[in-house]
Amino acid sequence: MNKRIKIFDTTLRDGEQSPGASMNVDEKIRVAHQLEKLKVDIIEAGFPIASDGDFDAVKKVANAVKDCQVAGLARANKKDIDRAWEALKKGANPRIHTFIATSDIHLKHKLKKSREEVLEAAVAAVKHAKSYTDNIEFSAEDAVRSDVDYLCRVVEAVIKAGATTVNIPDTVGYAIPSEFGQLIKTIHDQVPNIDETVISVHCHNDLGLAVANSLAAIENGAGQVECTINGIGERAGNASLEEIVMAIRTRGDLLKYTTGIATENLYPTSRLVTHITGMVVQPNKAIVGANAFAHEAGIHQDGVLKEKSTYEIMTPESVGLSHNLLVLGKHSGRHAFKERIKELGYDLDDKNLEKTFVRFKSLADKKKEIFDEDLDAIIADEVIRIPDKYKLVYLNVSSGTVTVPTATVQMEVDGEMRQKAGFGVGPVDAVYETIAKITKTKSKLVRYSVSSITSGMDAQGEVTVRVEEEGKTVIGQGAHTDIIVASAKAYINAMNKLEYRKKKIWTDLP
Ligand code: KIV
Ligand code: ZN
Repeated sequence: MNKRIKIFDTTLRDGEQSPGASMNVDEKIRVAHQLEKLKVDIIEAGFPIASDGDFDAVKKVANAVKDCQVAGLARANKKDIDRAWEALKKGANPRIHTFIATSDIHLKHKLKKSREEVLEAAVAAVKHAKSYTDNIEFSAEDAVRSDVDYLCRVVEAVIKAGATTVNIPDTVGYAIPSEFGQLIKTIHDQVPNIDETVISVHCHNDLGLAVANSLAAIENGAGQVECTINGIGERAGNASLEEIVMAIRTRGDLLKYTTGIATENLYPTSRLVTHITGMVVQPNKAIVGANAFAHEAGIHQDGVLKEKSTYEIMTPESVGLSHNLLVLGKHSGRHAFKERIKELGYDLDDKNLEKTFVRFKSLADKKKEIFDEDLDAIIADEVIRIPDKYKLVYLNVSSGTVTVPTATVQMEVDGEMRQKAGFGVGPVDAVYETIAKITKTKSKLVRYSVSSITSGMDAQGEVTVRVEEEGKTVIGQGAHTDIIVASAKAYINAMNKLEYRKKKIWTDLP
């Protein structure tokens, strides 16, 4: 029988460490429910000691999720572990994930501790976590650059102390597959009590090898892989969940493993994470990129029309990508709308369905053909991106060849109505100046880009902005047929994220 590999999703923790990709509590809960639908085994919901917002998010996710384990991250000290447990304890299936670095580089420059001190701290942390739960994961941060014999000693000691999963991270994405596979094999073969634990791996993608390294680890004894949706994460990101899962599924002839993932939910999950984080997937990204199943060359198209397997190694349907591109128009009713939303993988309650239907109708009045991507943008705008503090109520702009661009903006700020007017060098600048006056923000706009969601003159424009304040960066997005409105929405989305992000205390995070 094929070995079952556990999928540990860290989109909400390591994924959220991507520059700009912060999520608020409600957005995290939404992603967590989608991950539950995807049937991941473990959801790492955050790092409770990092901020009150993170604590709250881990607590709410742990309480909301019933079908997966929920992990909270903690450094190897009592305070972090107590805080993590406080957040997790009422959940159906909590896991404490504690870590400390084991490489000499980290010991010398970051921790300023000896190998013996780190070993003692690791064991003490696991023992302390064990006073709360038996479900304990220990990570040896920067394992790949650690001395192998010392790493094996640490692994043996933490298993003895009660770690039920031992994670071997390639924290800086330095390993190559043959080397990483060998490291896992060494741990597997040399640590005497290794059978009492699950070996996990956590690979970063600095050299573009995170998925290859994870697969090499599986072939050498790893039973759990840590990964993220769309591969988001610190720096170049983490191993991409969808790529690992589909490699295992597609190459079952060579890789004798299975996962519990409901692969038809991969594409909807990818889209949800994109809409919430603002981290856009490159078109040629494997599995979930816009071109992943598009055949351009005539010779390929001809082959696929004759027999799909000529150029397709997996079906678009197997990852949840529907072929139904042209969907609805202005005469479509509630029923057709509801069905299409369901086919796209969204599970909206009546209130949100109604809200999005009204917006769909208004779009259909302006635009002849409504595509799946248009519906995605509406749902992202109306339902997925949840405003905390700032809401756009009203916007009026005048600009042209003979007027100074002027904007009047009305916003709700913490429930209170505020209105102001302002000028700018162009209409977007006027809107941004006015929003900045209302929010009194000190942030700086560092990038602005606009693209059309679908083709055609009546297409919706999607604006993405990158905003920075005191070294913290966030990404905001907004969509509308009027790009000035889309620009305002993107900026306000970024303001909301910044408010949330500012509350985080990123200390010596990995
Ligand atoms: O990259 C890393 O080492 C981590 C650990 C906390 C698992 O994120
Ligand atoms: Zn990491």
